[in-house]
Amino acid sequence: MLDTASNRPELPPEIARRRTFAIISHPDAGKTTLTEKFLLYGGAIQMAGQVRAKGEARRTRSDFMQMEKDRGISVSASAMSFDYNDLRFNLVDTPGHSDFSEDTYRTLTAVDAAIMVIDGAKGVESQTQKLFEVCRLRDLPILTFCNKMDRESRDVFEIIDEIQEMLAIDVTPASWPIGVGRDFVGCYDILRDRLELMDRADRNKVAESIEINGLDDPNLAKYVPEHLLDKLVEDLEMARELLPKLDPQAVLEGHMTPIWFGSAINSFGVKELMDGIGNYGPLPQVQSAQPRSIAPEEKKVAGFVFKVQANMDPKHRDRVAFVRLASGHFKRGMKLNHVRTKKPMAISNPVLFLASDRELAEEAWAGDIIGIPNHGQLRIGDTLTEGEPLRVTGIPSFAPELLQGVRAGDPMKSKHLEKALMQFAEEGAAKVFKPSIGSGFIVGVVGALQFEVLASRIEMEYGLPVRFEASQFTSARWVSGDKAAVDKLVNANKQHIANDHDGDIVYLTRLQWDIDRVVRDYPDVNLTATKEMM
Ligand code: G4P
Repeated sequence: MLDTASNRPELPPEIARRRTFAIISHPDAGKTTLTEKFLLYGGAIQMAGQVRAKGEARRTRSDFMQMEKDRGISVSASAMSFDYNDLRFNLVDTPGHSDFSEDTYRTLTAVDAAIMVIDGAKGVESQTQKLFEVCRLRDLPILTFCNKMDRESRDVFEIIDEIQEMLAIDVTPASWPIGVGRDFVGCYDILRDRLELMDRADRNKVAESIEINGLDDPNLAKYVPEHLLDKLVEDLEMARELLPKLDPQAVLEGHMTPIWFGSAINSFGVKELMDGIGNYGPLPQVQSAQPRSIAPEEKKVAGFVFKVQANMDPKHRDRVAFVRLASGHFKRGMKLNHVRTKKPMAISNPVLFLASDRELAEEAWAGDIIGIPNHGQLRIGDTLTEGEPLRVTGIPSFAPELLQGVRAGDPMKSKHLEKALMQFAEEGAAKVFKPSIGSGFIVGVVGALQFEVLASRIEMEYGLPVRFEASQFTSARWVSGDKAAVDKLVNANKQHIANDHDGDIVYLTRLQWDIDRVVRDYPDVNLTATKEMM
């Protein structure tokens, strides 16, 4: 059964028109440019260049953001909503750098689909592959955009083959490029049988469309330059014969990806991709939760926090929890049950992120992302409902792969340091462990760059210079199991034991051998490398 609005009549039209997705790509493939064009066609911005310009203005406000800029990476995710035709798109930005994969993973728990952007000259790059694997863990549907076709790029069959081989997914062409590099004139839209011709003179102009009735339609010869025509017809015939046809169900199940070719900077192919998201991208999906899953059409509101961002506005020291609504029709001022603490929470200032501006959200529907400013009550993994104690599942915390000790430059400021570290732990930016012996903290991250980001944020946001130093430990495992056995392990291994920011017990390890020893000597204790955030 297809996941189209007509096949899910139970969904209110407001929910059925939502498409919530993320873009995954290797740095430089064109994610920012494509986002900009999405917003341009969505009417959210007036002129291309604004995302970058606004980004820049925001960045100059802080050294931390300056660092992002210098390194050409985006370490903070944000959400943007815009309308396109009858659809409401919610685009969640994923951090592009591999050092922030945990954050990325959690971001991907909040979307129903991903757009994979690849550079036509480079094909599948390392970061694309990593992010793709994360999507696969969740069986997320993936639509592909092959960018920069206005430059010399690889042969189309070769690109398609590479995606199929490297990512083990069926690829079906939704469009076919005509000419490459300087010769690139546009695409043949395979799904709608028409030509889309690019206007090189105006980068923001929408392509001209020409209906085509079959490959012997004289219009083809009229509009496609003579030296490209034979190759186009030959390619299209070969593609029809050799490549799988679009199977919308397989797309929704994550087994097939349609690929569009284009040039984001020339606004070319972007609308076709947006139409593709509308036609083949999933509607808001059922969310797994305990003790039962949550369907988007349920009358009552439920949502979960997948990201917390502190100090988005340094003047206000606020913290914004990004909440994906899993069900219902949310209205500003609603009182929701904060399931973890069992306390009611009045949501009086929710924000929607329209382009890169924030706006008060008067209402929102399942599928939307809203930001809830708060003073630390909301943590990653928290569920908010209209009463029922449901808990959204599948938002993990991973064991860090790198550990370092951290000290305040000024020993009198260690309380401040603790506060800063707790904030970052709650934001999910790092793991913070308090060893049971000695003073100080151990900070765990997934990639080395995160230490630099933390040090610069602590200094900037708390005025506190800090030093990271080598630690004898290399990883950590959460400890659970039979209480007596856990106590025995803790008492006999104090030098390895610490608590995370939730107070949960962890076992710090130096070598795999440490883990093997615990497994052997304490059969009633479980050591785990992930913890469900709750
Ligand atoms: P990212 O967010 O994935 O890192 O990529 P971004 O959009 O910033 O694009 C990376 C570079 O590729 C930019 O050039 C951008 O202008 C260029 N680009 C994006 N789409 C296309 C396209 O369709 N064709 C061509 N030829 N180039 C494209 P830059 O020189 O790094 O930055 P800028 O000076 O243009 O801002």
